[in-house]
Amino acid sequence: MKILVATQKPFAPAAVKQMKELIKQAGYELILLEKYENQQDLTDAVIDVDALIVRSDKVTPEVLQKAQNLKVVVRAGAGYDNIDLDAASQKNVVVMNTPGQNSNAVAELVLGMLVYMARNRFNGTAGTELKGKILGIHAYGNVGKNVARIAKGFDMQVVAHDPYVSSEIVERDGIKDFEQAEDMYKYAQYISLHIPATKQTIKSINYDLLKNMPPNAVLINTARKEVIDEDGLLKLMSERPDFTYISDIAPDKKDEFETRYANRVFFTPKKMGAQTAEANINAGVAAVNQIVNFFKTGDIRFKVN
Ligand code: 3PG
Repeated sequence: MKILVATQKPFAPAAVKQMKELIKQAGYELILLEKYENQQDLTDAVIDVDALIVRSDKVTPEVLQKAQNLKVVVRAGAGYDNIDLDAASQKNVVVMNTPGQNSNAVAELVLGMLVYMARNRFNGTAGTELKGKILGIHAYGNVGKNVARIAKGFDMQVVAHDPYVSSEIVERDGIKDFEQAEDMYKYAQYISLHIPATKQTIKSINYDLLKNMPPNAVLINTARKEVIDEDGLLKLMSERPDFTYISDIAPDKKDEFETRYANRVFFTPKKMGAQTAEANINAGVAAVNQIVNFFKTGDIRFKVN
């Protein structure tokens, strides 16, 4: 069996080492394609592989078409909006993710970026504290739960909204649950996004939702840039000089945001949320184990298509 690990943004070397060992132990062959520059490089590399491990790499119909032996794709991470699920299903390719494996890393980055901006990028001027502030978590999944746990350590008041998680589960963690997103956005000065990019959520974080946020509002996005209605957010930021936007991956209109609102935006140059050795090891090893279990026992527990 040939397993291709294709990562434009590579795993930490320690993760690759462990993945390599596990693949060898299973009697399979690892092919590594790191930091590739063109989509064609991926399309060329999949030709005779049986399994594919990716991160945010784009698994398009063209890639799937070329991969005649491919049986399984594992997205080493949570969001699988980079994989064409319909095209995979049509070719009988099983697609899986590795939920929860990198969520602590993303959650730590949320609090890190919040502190960074609350302290004016450590520029020597007096900033503000997170203690006592209200943090609304939009989607209470693996990342949202970790953000809640850490934010409680900062003594923030944590609230949440998730249409797919029951109030009982949210409230069991001592967190106020909002049935309506609009109500949470009116209540929380800080909002942290943890929704996937789907047909329903793309551009759903819009002017109308954000306009009622309390004074000195901060929106932090470590989910997907696509969930933001960028025109709506630009309009809101022109009307609300107290509004800050922080994102782990620059918006499409990055230059406009940075030119118009330099002090009120911060964007990582590359998506950094899951970029820790620990998260890479957790997600990379889980991906290999899932592939080995799939081939050896037919395990499809984490199938998403
Ligand atoms: C995820 O969906 O798991 C995160 O967004 C991390 O993505 P990455 O593996 O491309 O860093």
